[in-house]
Amino acid sequence: MARKPVIAGNWKMNTTPDEGVQLVEGLKKRLSGINDVEIIVAPPFTHLSRVGEVVEKSNIKLSSQDMSPKDSGAYTGEVSPLMIKAVGCQYVIIGHSERRLYFGETDESVEEKVTAALNHGITPIICIGESLAEREADQTLNVILTQLKGGLSCLTAKNLKDIIIAYEPVWAIGTGKTATDEQAQDVHHFIRKTLAGLFGEEISGQTRILYGGSVKPDNVSGLMTQPDIDGALVGGASLSVESFEKIVKFNRS
Ligand code: 13P
Repeated sequence: MARKPVIAGNWKMNTTPDEGVQLVEGLKKRLSGINDVEIIVAPPFTHLSRVGEVVEKSNIKLSSQDMSPKDSGAYTGEVSPLMIKAVGCQYVIIGHSERRLYFGETDESVEEKVTAALNHGITPIICIGESLAEREADQTLNVILTQLKGGLSCLTAKNLKDIIIAYEPVWAIGTGKTATDEQAQDVHHFIRKTLAGLFGEEISGQTRILYGGSVKPDNVSGLMTQPDIDGALVGGASLSVESFEKIVKFNRS
């Protein structure tokens, strides 16, 4: 079964709710009718409800950028899987490097959140990736292996089809330094091979693995032609209708 490409926009902590609605209304117009690419936007929590109403019944799907692993309770500041689901989220980004770096996310908390997402029928987009120091020390594959094994030990051959993995080398995020097509492909291939070792070839061949880190309209097609790259998790370039539209239309000239 061919893997359907995914283009996801991670808005991070950008836009006001009004600006977010304007952005997604523009995207909805320009991207209507595209069904061979899974299109996802991940606005801040405060925008989910309004953006969710705009994209309802459209080809644009909604994701949150994080969530609590708990359903409810005394967890000030947290947002639960039930809450994001109620406003239309079918996806949740988990373990983004910015959450690992600034907010103490660990492989253990990633695993807890992935488990919660799967229990609630929300597709986790699980982020992994090495820092510059780790790449320079030739530790990339070790780091990836640790993050995969540590954060994903709740996965089985059965639920692997319900997740998306995003490889985001930390040194390529927001820096304008994209991994070369070959660097990205090498790591994607390693991820798929590792999943095959853990869960079998068939299911690992169905798992979507996205690349993230300075993806722009002019580098997306090169990345997307790599055999193990199934899509992109886009930060900065997802904040403008023009550039996100071009990235989604990577396979149309
Ligand atoms: P940039 O595309 O801005 O480098 O961000 C990538 C990213 O972190 C997406 O989650």
